[in-house]
Amino acid sequence: MRTNLNLTVLPGDGIGVEVTREAVRVLRAVADIQGYEFRFRTELVGGAAIRETGFPLPQQTLDACLGSDAVLLGAVGGPEFDSLPPDRKPESGLLALRRELGAFANLRPAASHRAIEDCSPLRPEVVRGADILVVRELLGGLYFGEPRGFAADGNFGFNTMCYSVPEIERIARIAFEQARTRRRKVTSVDKANVLETSQLWRKVVTRVAHDFSDVTLEHMYVDACAMHLVSNPTRFDVILTENLFGDILSDESAVISGSLGMLASASIGGRVGLFEPVHGSAPDIAGRGIANPLGAISTAALLLRYAGGMGQEARDIDSAIGEVLDRGYRTADLIRDPRSQPVSTEEMGAAVADALAGFCDRRHAYHAV
Ligand code: IPM
Ligand code: MN
Repeated sequence: MRTNLNLTVLPGDGIGVEVTREAVRVLRAVADIQGYEFRFRTELVGGAAIRETGFPLPQQTLDACLGSDAVLLGAVGGPEFDSLPPDRKPESGLLALRRELGAFANLRPAASHRAIEDCSPLRPEVVRGADILVVRELLGGLYFGEPRGFAADGNFGFNTMCYSVPEIERIARIAFEQARTRRRKVTSVDKANVLETSQLWRKVVTRVAHDFSDVTLEHMYVDACAMHLVSNPTRFDVILTENLFGDILSDESAVISGSLGMLASASIGGRVGLFEPVHGSAPDIAGRGIANPLGAISTAALLLRYAGGMGQEARDIDSAIGEVLDRGYRTADLIRDPRSQPVSTEEMGAAVADALAGFCDRRHAYHAV
């Protein structure tokens, strides 16, 4: 375990700025409580970086990330960049960062919280107890496959889906290792009835499974998975899948937790881990102080767990989130009844930091007697 962490913070665009501020607040609270030293260095990425420098991932940002213990990112993107070609959009900065860091394994947990069960459009008896981890391959597939581009004067567009055996093997191993810390079941999701890459995927995952005989493996087509995720989410433990399928299924899994604003992610396996909430920059609500920071705060917990080896501190943050939800704190996205008053982004962040301090004190008091 490390008690000093050098962190690069990339707030990015839109609500990314607002939610990372609260995640940093909670990280500072952890450092205060435990007597750790966390150093924060803020850099530009995405649209904010394009505006200042013309590039979505300036060299200075990349160097800072590569020189730190972990990267905490908010969100990138915005409507003013819609007409730019894909390789110059804010999103391309994020994709380049993932690639440069080598972060090939994207972990996206989604669980139902009893206190906000009513926020899910799914019936409580369907969603209750659901606890899923999507393990998304992050550096391959259609996102990065070559060739790609436009041809015939822009009247033809093409992308390539490709996967190699080592790329599939390494992500499969991560999924099985994660399953060992959970309920020991992996659902590998593909489209093997149509795609060659998926047939290879299935073969390699089956082979890797031999090294994890204590974990159950099943294969499922992505269309069926999309359906089961909302009709019977409790049947899943770890979902292992390729890049684009994982992008889609992880947004879908947000209905389990009630709001996309709740979801966190960790991208690991490379030189430096990249930690970002699943939600985007939400330009429609940006700058109003109403975004839900809990996804970013849970992301901070993942950062402590995977970049700092601080499992207890990560669990403490998760418990603090549970406590504020139990006490009735709700940002606007978590409110069903229009008569209820939401709390602001900042109030929610401060409440989590307070709850954390509160029960860490209680635990110390308990250990002292
Ligand atoms: C995500 C986002 C990104 C992705 C975009 C912003 C490039 O949707 O992290 O899920 O597609 O991976
Ligand atoms: Mn996405």
